[in-house]
Amino acid sequence: MSTKIKTFVEYQQQYELSISNPEAFWADKADSFVWRKKWDKVLEWNFEDPNIQWFINGKLNITENCIDRHLSTKGDKTAIIWEPNNPDTPVRKLTYNELYLEVSKFANVLKNNNVKKGDRVCLYMPMVPELAIAVLACARIGAIHSVVFAGFSSNSLADRIKDSKVSLVVTSDGAYRGNKSMGIKKIVDEAIVSCPTVEKVIVYQHTNEPVHLVEGRDVWWTEEMNKVSSTCEPEIMDSEDPLFILYTSGSTGTPKGVLHTTGGYMVYVDYSFQNIFQVEDNSVYWCTADIGWITGHSYLTYAPLLAGATTIIFEGVPTFPDASRFWQVIDKHNVTHFYTAPTAIRSLMSFGLEPLENSKLDSLKVLGSVGEPINEEAWHWYHNHVGKGNCPIVDTWWQTETGGILISPLAGITPTKPSYATLPLPGVQPIIVDTDGNELLGNNVEGNLCMKFPWPSIIRTTYGDHERCRQNYFSTYKGLYFTGDGCRRDEDGYYRILGRVDDVINVSGHRMGTAEVENAINEHDDVIESAVVGYPHDIKGQGIYAFVICDNTTKNVETLRVEITNVVAKIIGPIAKPDRIQVVRGLPKTRSGKIMRRILRKVAEGDISSLGDTSTLLDPTVVDDIIKGALVPLKA
Ligand code: PRX
Repeated sequence: MSTKIKTFVEYQQQYELSISNPEAFWADKADSFVWRKKWDKVLEWNFEDPNIQWFINGKLNITENCIDRHLSTKGDKTAIIWEPNNPDTPVRKLTYNELYLEVSKFANVLKNNNVKKGDRVCLYMPMVPELAIAVLACARIGAIHSVVFAGFSSNSLADRIKDSKVSLVVTSDGAYRGNKSMGIKKIVDEAIVSCPTVEKVIVYQHTNEPVHLVEGRDVWWTEEMNKVSSTCEPEIMDSEDPLFILYTSGSTGTPKGVLHTTGGYMVYVDYSFQNIFQVEDNSVYWCTADIGWITGHSYLTYAPLLAGATTIIFEGVPTFPDASRFWQVIDKHNVTHFYTAPTAIRSLMSFGLEPLENSKLDSLKVLGSVGEPINEEAWHWYHNHVGKGNCPIVDTWWQTETGGILISPLAGITPTKPSYATLPLPGVQPIIVDTDGNELLGNNVEGNLCMKFPWPSIIRTTYGDHERCRQNYFSTYKGLYFTGDGCRRDEDGYYRILGRVDDVINVSGHRMGTAEVENAINEHDDVIESAVVGYPHDIKGQGIYAFVICDNTTKNVETLRVEITNVVAKIIGPIAKPDRIQVVRGLPKTRSGKIMRRILRKVAEGDISSLGDTSTLLDPTVVDDIIKGALVPLKA
């Protein structure tokens, strides 16, 4: 296992080493894993095509590294603790030995159902251990998993299934969420109607609600598991063979399938996890993210298992049965490392300190934050009331495309600073550029955040459309990977992420493309056109503000709002519901027809003091009307 950095000086030395000789640096990190064949060359890359390859011709299986290699020393150690939605439901624990058996069996189930290396398998499931088992079973046989968050609608699910030509879907009958239970299988059924590539559906029974099994297509998880043996030799994968696809929103078009490969992803997520979180052998690590997002892939499933740690899968929500749930769970399992999103912290802050009063929280050692900028108030609340002033907060900046955390403090080793992700990890070479792509050197600068050198878990392509990958990330600034984030490097050289500079909004840590939400809104029969922007939201970080033109409608505004909201929930999923919908008679457009979003953003923020020159607009009077009808108090 790779050695952990233990002092700030060591961090600085390692950082220097990683820049002066990246290949030697990463070869050393990769050496600690089980490879069936060692790589011939550490790295080949260019950011023009882009073409990035790590550990070339190395052969391995990531599950052998997540599970098999721990069995002789840690077979009886708990790998996964499952904390159910309802605290009265019994907890489940799987040791590394048990995880080995379950993953091997489900890998055999997949094989029995005709899944072969390279096939795409879609997982649409609640947060149960079987989701992690299915992820690992895919990796065991070299199938490419595509996990779709079970809050997405049947439409969104169908789009993702079609894009990657999935042959098998794994799902469950239903899911619990707080005091509700929802059908999941029926959403899959609706989606598959338009997905001819799907041949099989495996259904895990969880809520016991009635489901309809389609003869010849649908089978029960448990029945299939009873038919197979509990050993499955791992498929030998090339280092650059795909491991998974994960769809994420961008500023244009439909969500794209970010593709990660095997060797580099494994090395980087393990290295970053061990150094940032500094887990020990007896640590209990809890990442609250859903496996449907990248955080749940990298830092709930793969990295903790690669490190031989104990990882918690939580099925529930922070406020069920009440707002003390997180704190109760921390005491119940003696959680040492807790990793959550600012939106959860802000939402729990709003309940005051009472929900914390009956919890000791004295097992905690390290706190983590991910997904969006954490404001100073939330940072201090987290630090003082959850960490009791004793736990470093690692504010981890990264993206679906980066595969792993790129900028973050190392817990207890490097300094923290409220609302700063602070310093890049060894091997990570951030650069800040102005809009023309000129590098902004030195400290006290602000601009767009790029990377000038690849790290092992960087995106390799967008599934089925390499040009889209090139255009999105590698064409804005020549020779650089562009993150889409604005960033400041302060006087001490610490990085602070300022948020997206493209048409992506970050709602409760979930990425949403404005175009995607607009397309959904436009599906409403009475909507002629719409424009969506983000605005500051106390709990969600950003909220969705939609300006819509509805001509010739006989409906009143309230009815329209409800209907439009429902359309968006149906087309994308409830997470994309607009927070505010303003019906307008026109949108601020230039003479060439381009919507001036800058103006809409200002109105949504409630700030009309600096709208800029509106005289070049096709019809400047629409702006006055929009201001009059705005849904927030406006500052002149
Ligand atoms: O804007 C940044 C924000 O989330 C975006 C990436 O979203 P996604 O791919 O869904 O991954 C989220 C989990 C890694 C980034 O472009 N973001 C993520 N982490 C932080 C952040 N913004 C500020 N601080 C962070 N720690």
